[in-house]
Amino acid sequence: MTRLFLLAALAAASVAHAAPDAPSPILTTPEAKDVLTYAAPQIARVTHVDLDLTADFTRHVMRGTAALDILARPDAREIILDDNKLVISSITDAAGKPLKWSVGAYDEEKGAPLAVEIGTTRRIVIAYESDPGASALGWLAPALTAGKTSPYLFSQGEAINNRSWIPTQDSPGIRQSWTAKITVPSDLVVVMSAERLTPAGEPAGKGWHSYRFRMDRNVPPYLIALAVGDIRFQAIDRRTGVYAEPSVLARDAAELADTGRMVSTAEALYGRYRWGRYDVLVLPPSFPYGGMENPTLTFATPTIFTGDKSNVDVIAHELAHSWSGNLVTNATWSDSWLNEGFTTYFENRIDEALYGKERAATLADLLWDNLQRDLKAAPDPDATRLHGKPGGTYGELDYSKGSTFLRTIEYTVGRPRWDAYLRSYFDRHAFQPQTTAGFLADLRANLVRGDAALEAKLQLDRWAYEPGLPSNAVHVRSATLAKIDQMLARVNAGAPIASVDTKNWSTQEWLRFLNGLPRTQSAARLGELDRRLNLSTTSNAYIRSAWLVLAIGNRYDPARASIANFLPSVGRGLLIFPVYRALRAQGEWGMAIARHDYATARNAYHPTVVSSLDRMLEWKGGTGR
Ligand code: BES
Ligand code: ZN
Repeated sequence: MTRLFLLAALAAASVAHAAPDAPSPILTTPEAKDVLTYAAPQIARVTHVDLDLTADFTRHVMRGTAALDILARPDAREIILDDNKLVISSITDAAGKPLKWSVGAYDEEKGAPLAVEIGTTRRIVIAYESDPGASALGWLAPALTAGKTSPYLFSQGEAINNRSWIPTQDSPGIRQSWTAKITVPSDLVVVMSAERLTPAGEPAGKGWHSYRFRMDRNVPPYLIALAVGDIRFQAIDRRTGVYAEPSVLARDAAELADTGRMVSTAEALYGRYRWGRYDVLVLPPSFPYGGMENPTLTFATPTIFTGDKSNVDVIAHELAHSWSGNLVTNATWSDSWLNEGFTTYFENRIDEALYGKERAATLADLLWDNLQRDLKAAPDPDATRLHGKPGGTYGELDYSKGSTFLRTIEYTVGRPRWDAYLRSYFDRHAFQPQTTAGFLADLRANLVRGDAALEAKLQLDRWAYEPGLPSNAVHVRSATLAKIDQMLARVNAGAPIASVDTKNWSTQEWLRFLNGLPRTQSAARLGELDRRLNLSTTSNAYIRSAWLVLAIGNRYDPARASIANFLPSVGRGLLIFPVYRALRAQGEWGMAIARHDYATARNAYHPTVVSSLDRMLEWKGGTGR
């Protein structure tokens, strides 16, 4: 690269169609400043990360080197990286000459700045290992896997966890390409969110083998992801497939049979899929999220496998992130609604195209319930603004209010015009960071185009910057859920539970029903519900969670065994936090149960879930894992 080009790439505030292999531009507008990174990318930035790491399952550390390629101003003295408890042994230039470095003050949330004196060098090599408590890494004992014989490791980068195992500039606005070689015991398999160059592994000394990966597109570093375990692959079609433990692979692949069609459906809506393969990795139940949109390889919770495909919308969601999030990325975590709101809208469009209008309406209508719930429950109105605090809005408002915003634009301008706009938007901003202000400017330039009447109808600034819900919000209604509401009216007036016909109910119908029951119920009525509908024993974790919240709210003692075996068996925050919160709300009665069951469950949870629950339950039972 010529010096002139380097300078141009550093200075560029926005380059329309940056080639994927050239360094992606950094946004320099004030609202694009990421307060959760220590990096000063205008002075020196990482453009490529090359990892060479060994997974140590005995000590729970990743150990090895990270080589970073750097683009820096000629007068730059140092590069600042993000670090969270990395144990660094040396930092050198490419030739092995030691460089001076120092770690600054540690912050609970952000970790610490790692400053490296680079002089004229533009490639540095960091030798290090991660802390055994690294916030990104879930180290699972064999008992926590489906097969129960091999240990498992997975990473979760979003939002700012990857700095606990990768020393780089951990900001969504600083895109980087990357490569990796990961060495593990020979009975384990490694997968990552990139092109898998050695599907069968390569020998790496007695008892060990290595896997290599390459991501030649520039991605925000939170999307670098790793999993290691007894993992097998089953193809769905030419470009899609499923990775899972052998004992669940056939079940998972059957439920995900529509994945190939999902990808082509998404492409027909908003443009070419640009990441090569689209595979899904099904993790052990400890996985803290429903899904995570790691490029080429969505990570998914096993709780979506309910046997009736009624939760594959999670896959549609993670797939949609391949456009909104992975291609056009929130520049900072204050704009996370750009990732989640766009994706939730796009997800629903995929659901509609694949499964029909009514199915999509059912999902959208339930989301409207969440929207109302979160608007009410928000601690202060500020937390309901889409563009707001780093870490997003209150509850799920990034998802519900964000997608309702886009739905409202769709209804206002008409679907054909909106779809054409959105498709061009993804093209215009592909492989670049985006801000709320940037989105609104693009929308005004390419869709509103000075139409004052349309501008007034849309209320764009109210949606993006004001609390609450603008008056033009569109509520999509579902006939399926309206039927459930009629049934609820009868049940709530005292009709016997035996009269409730739950045959063929999807998870969404169950949730509307359970969440629509009055919160106060007699023990006799709860017993009737439980017996007739098998709520305490259902293997559907969504239903089980909603039931336990209702039961706990009434201190229904017979549910205690169900709580005790549910909590350690699921690590997905969305399903267990409400149960722990319900227990906490019951004072000593509930806290005693929560603490007792958490003592067993804690080992099964991901570090980020553990730190939330330690706080929520004021955990003093030891911090070891
Ligand atoms: N990107 C998110 C998960 C996430 C969000 C991780 C914020 C860390 C910080 C993912 O795409 C997601 O939204 N997952 C949802 C599923 C979805 C269908 C609503 C989940 O985990 O429940
Ligand atoms: Zn998402």
